[in-house]
Amino acid sequence: MPAGAESAGPPTDVDAVLEARDGKDQLRFIICGSVDDGKSTLLGRLLHESKNVFEDQFAAAEVESRTYGTQGSAVDLALLIDGLQAEREQGITIDIAHRYFETDRRRFIAVDAPGHEQYTRNMATGASNADVALILVDARKGLLTQTRRHSHVIALIGIRRVILAVNKMDLVNYDEGKFSSIVEEYRVTAGEMGIEEVTPVPVSALTGENVLAARGGTPWYDGPTLLELLESVEVRRDGMDGKFRLPVQWVNRPHPDFRGFSGTVASGYVERGMDVVASLSGRQSTVERILGPSGELERAVPGQAVTLVLADEIDVGRGDMIGDAEHPPEIADHFAVHLIWMDTQPMLPERHYSIRLASAAGMAQITDLTHRVDIDTGGYLAAKTLDLNEIGYCKISLDRAVPFDPYSESRQTGGFVLIDRVTNATVGAGVIDFALRRASNISWRQMNVDKAARSRAIGQEPCVLWLTGLSGAGKSTIADRLEQKLQALDRYTYLLDGDNVRHGLNKDLGFTDQDRVENIRRIAEVARLMVDAGLIVIVSFISPFRSEREMARALVEEGEFVEIHVDTPLEVCEARDPKGLYAKARKGDLANFTGVDSPYETPQDPELRIDTTQLSVDEAADMVIAYLESTRTGVE
Ligand code: ADX
Repeated sequence: MPAGAESAGPPTDVDAVLEARDGKDQLRFIICGSVDDGKSTLLGRLLHESKNVFEDQFAAAEVESRTYGTQGSAVDLALLIDGLQAEREQGITIDIAHRYFETDRRRFIAVDAPGHEQYTRNMATGASNADVALILVDARKGLLTQTRRHSHVIALIGIRRVILAVNKMDLVNYDEGKFSSIVEEYRVTAGEMGIEEVTPVPVSALTGENVLAARGGTPWYDGPTLLELLESVEVRRDGMDGKFRLPVQWVNRPHPDFRGFSGTVASGYVERGMDVVASLSGRQSTVERILGPSGELERAVPGQAVTLVLADEIDVGRGDMIGDAEHPPEIADHFAVHLIWMDTQPMLPERHYSIRLASAAGMAQITDLTHRVDIDTGGYLAAKTLDLNEIGYCKISLDRAVPFDPYSESRQTGGFVLIDRVTNATVGAGVIDFALRRASNISWRQMNVDKAARSRAIGQEPCVLWLTGLSGAGKSTIADRLEQKLQALDRYTYLLDGDNVRHGLNKDLGFTDQDRVENIRRIAEVARLMVDAGLIVIVSFISPFRSEREMARALVEEGEFVEIHVDTPLEVCEARDPKGLYAKARKGDLANFTGVDSPYETPQDPELRIDTTQLSVDEAADMVIAYLESTRTGVE
């Protein structure tokens, strides 16, 4: 077998991982609390007293991102981090500091997600692969809204164990009653949120009481100190006892005689001879060989990057998941999820976002926002959108079926991130509650008469001529003339015009961002059907958002979508004001008017730009026809 075939696949920093694995046990904990609660002092004391100075935040963050995918603590995390790396590349940083320290018994990674109390996304990201949360409460103040907020996020992220450090005990004269009542109240709150285990400890970061050692201030407390708790809390790597899952990152096929499936074990373990299933096809096989970075393995555990060779030739591609045949992953394309919104642009139901889930990638839409969570009270609020840092419960629909596990069963294969298709920013992170519909119930039917047959029958290549621009830019007038000219050339056409379609198919929609997204989604789908019918479809809608125009483009084949920016300056549109709408909008009688109080995102790279201040309607229509003639064979 040639060299290379036996390697485990994509390059990973396996040595670092193995070193961590072989050496001391490691605990990753997130610290929740504000500066006022004494978070920095407490952390400083822990580091100082345990004689640790190798907390190089920057280097740590580097190691962090290099090793995430292989740390094995959580694949959903790897996903989050992928998203974050994308953000880093764009120079947007999430404010999380990692501090490393160690004692004789353990190595610690303290994840400090500072920031203002509503920086949910920092917290969610920091918490996403923590084993335990350390929640800090000021003994004088008791539980704050913020304490509830933090607890809510960590519970959502799947952390089930909390160390409750009641700090500043020195300032309440080490009063046992104060401590107990805070603990009692917190237990109730935590219980409601699904946090199973709360271990309280009274401390004073300032005097050092019960941080590393008891100092005599709390004779009534004979439990472990904070450091002892951190050293002894059991690290249940849920991955290890979970079901075997290997999200397939790539298919390793160096030559025709070898085919292996590479990825990092997300949970459970795999052994030679084990029966496995390829989730998407449901085909079963047996593990013949397990290849690690330095050779053949008997067994592989979470965090290990491996290449599996199966006994049978079965179809497995990137994004698929190899799982334990007895407990296969579920497959679905429609889910109920908890979602944390992380973008300054609000979430828009029906918009197409890119989704990444384990190794799978696709498109997703939020079809229904069931409620928004009032983090401060835990109550549910009716909502149409989610703003930055808000959490909601929604239904999402994917453009394909993906293998997954509910998050409650696996943090590794039940989390996902949403990415904006235009800006490439990570805009949301979520966890799957359950599948709403098994994808297998609805499938595509392959029909005998297809687009090619229909196009042949009428002798033309179908396409979408998508006219976008401000109201009053001249879209409809140009579209109308264009259709006349195409008709004169014996082309089969159809004109979809905003004003007209809004009288029928879309008469339930108004002009909020959300409604415009849905307006364009429907038109894009209709245009796709018409292209499938063989028509030249002229679409004339303001279509103000890049994201939806890109979505419309993606629905048809390469080359079939012609974006035409009918580029008329706002002042000119406003001066023309054919329907008197600008005047109304300026007077405040018409809300959400494009160009006035609703945005128009200018096309960045349209196939055609029509400057209506320079071209007549005829010239504009001719320009489009000339473009079609130069790019297609069907129009002569
Ligand atoms: S889009 O933004 O959702 O693409 P669409 O093209 O369907 O808009 O409809 C735009 C037409 O609706 C305009 O030409 C105008 O006649 C009318 N209209 C009424 N209210 C508004 C508004 N608030 N913003 C823009 N257009 C409006």
